[in-house]
Amino acid sequence: MEPIARDKGTAPVIAIDGPTASGKGTVAQRVAKALGFHYLDSGALYRLVALKAVRQRVAADAATELAALAAGLQPHFNDRVVLDGEDVTDAIRSEDVGVMASRIAVQPQLRAALMDLQRRFRRAPGLVADGRDMGSVVFPDAVLKVYLTASVQARADRRHKQLSDKGFPANMRALLQDLRERDARDSSRAASPLKPAEGAKLLDSSDLPIDTVVKRIVDWHRGMAD
Ligand code: DC
Repeated sequence: MEPIARDKGTAPVIAIDGPTASGKGTVAQRVAKALGFHYLDSGALYRLVALKAVRQRVAADAATELAALAAGLQPHFNDRVVLDGEDVTDAIRSEDVGVMASRIAVQPQLRAALMDLQRRFRRAPGLVADGRDMGSVVFPDAVLKVYLTASVQARADRRHKQLSDKGFPANMRALLQDLRERDARDSSRAASPLKPAEGAKLLDSSDLPIDTVVKRIVDWHRGMAD
């Protein structure tokens, strides 16, 4: 039997889901580092398809074309995100691409086309997967499911800081409105709507320092907390 294939099936997964700008990405990466696990940023995959769609002028409702873009996706992740030889780390973080990602993510065909790619990230000794449907759909057998959230204001503050740090223009009112619209779209779509997976532990990070959030999840995984 081929050992890598066996690892893929059995390596433990920690699923961290939650709304946009809840701090999932940073938290998930730090949990992965603390445990020596691999890391999947599933939102980056939706953003990569969105970037391709924007550039190739594929419409947000062109289900078949979007699924084809997703099926052909061969991204490379290390510190940077590289697609077709181009460093797109910053390009996929722009607000425009984020909004397009949220719009195309309603397409079941596109979600199905990304499923296998996401599952291939599962490797020994384990995976921390961050997204919207990691615990509910992609890795329903995850050993730990966390639903990480924060108030809209706290998330807008964080997003504002992130964008300003990267030199992108950021307007607080527009950010608040965009977050609310994106929450509504992500939560109300028929295909894999954003909601806590069954058995997920809820964690509100609005008033918690990031170190505390990371420690709580690592402790949960190690069975030191309930
Ligand atoms: O986490 P993020 O903001 O980078 O995700 C961008 C968009 O991708 C988000 O608005 C919804 C979509 N997404 C999704 O539908 N399912 C996932 N597992 C991850 C992201």
